[in-house]
Amino acid sequence: MKRTAPVYVCFLLSLFIGTGCRKAHDTYRPGKYAMEISQKTYGTLPDGRHVILFHLMNANGMQADIINYGGILVSLKTPNRKGHLGDVVLGFDDLESYLHDPPYFGALIGRYGNRIARGRFTLEGKEYSLAVNNNGHHLHGGLKGFDKQLWNAEPIQTDNAVGVKLSLLSPHGDEGYPGNLDCHVTYLLTNEDELRIVYRALTDRPTVVNLTHHSYFNLTECQRDILDHELTIGADRYTPVDEGLIPLGTLESVSGTPLDFRESTPIGSRIDNDDIQLLRGRGYDHNFVLNNRDGSPAQAALVYEPQTGRTMEVLTSEPGLQFYSGNFLDGTLTGKNGIVYGHRWGFCLEAQHFPDSPNQPAFPSVVLHPGEKYAQTTVYRFSVMK
Ligand code: GLA
Repeated sequence: MKRTAPVYVCFLLSLFIGTGCRKAHDTYRPGKYAMEISQKTYGTLPDGRHVILFHLMNANGMQADIINYGGILVSLKTPNRKGHLGDVVLGFDDLESYLHDPPYFGALIGRYGNRIARGRFTLEGKEYSLAVNNNGHHLHGGLKGFDKQLWNAEPIQTDNAVGVKLSLLSPHGDEGYPGNLDCHVTYLLTNEDELRIVYRALTDRPTVVNLTHHSYFNLTECQRDILDHELTIGADRYTPVDEGLIPLGTLESVSGTPLDFRESTPIGSRIDNDDIQLLRGRGYDHNFVLNNRDGSPAQAALVYEPQTGRTMEVLTSEPGLQFYSGNFLDGTLTGKNGIVYGHRWGFCLEAQHFPDSPNQPAFPSVVLHPGEKYAQTTVYRFSVMK
């Protein structure tokens, strides 16, 4: 009798609230939860260091899991229009898979998000040579970027958010970059259903810095490709690229091109157009020049997924947004819950300075001097449309 009681209670409750016998944390209930932050060992690196997973939940039930290896966002559960919480980022079930060079799933990127041509640049009369890892170019920080580092981590809690503060000291000469770079990145899950990422860095010599975050989103809970997601990007211009995806140096109008996302448009509607830029990127892999920037976080993009009703708004302090439509995903990676990640199964919206800025004097500067503070804030804000 004792053992069957919980089953009856659950059955009666499910009749009463109509949500089945689902665990409470699968359901979005605004203001009904106590915020939570917990941590556990996620795995062990080959050198014996432990990787910690932080589990965050806000007062509405929205949840984020973050590990201190690569600052990777492993899981992000947001509500659909029925109030069911489901995971909207690509990733793996175990540390082992993250160690096998995945395409930056959920990771923090540094010291330089995106490409630097031939891994070379000149700063204040001195030439620097960086690790090259992408067709002779430097991409996302090189061979061992911030996505492959173990960060120091501490949990934090404020009145309306739970979070993790990650810290990393990148030594002078790391992947070829000058200066000791002292980096701090804070992930906050707020009660406004935002994942807020705040970046800070200081240097002791002149250097270049461009940090970003590389989640692959899929608002269908990663059930199919992302081509039906409807995207708006607040950009009149973009930076066209050559065959190696290095900017030509010009800012061109999106008007009359498949890169015009000023009105909400399904990602898939023009992706296979016979357009030289799309052919070079094998789809979208372009930096958009955001309108109305003054250095404070402002809206950059909005994504709507019609079947689940999920929307994601991106706000950033940055001048650029790389929209990458997961063109290199090809069905060879199997992710969380055994889901095979097929072609264009996730999209990235990477807030950043423009690619190859160290070699493009006309682009906004990425130079950081001693005594200056590198600061960037990007917010991914979730809601549903009925
Ligand atoms: C990016 C680049 C893409 C690709 C992915 C990772 O965001 O712009 O070209 O390299 O990372 O596969």
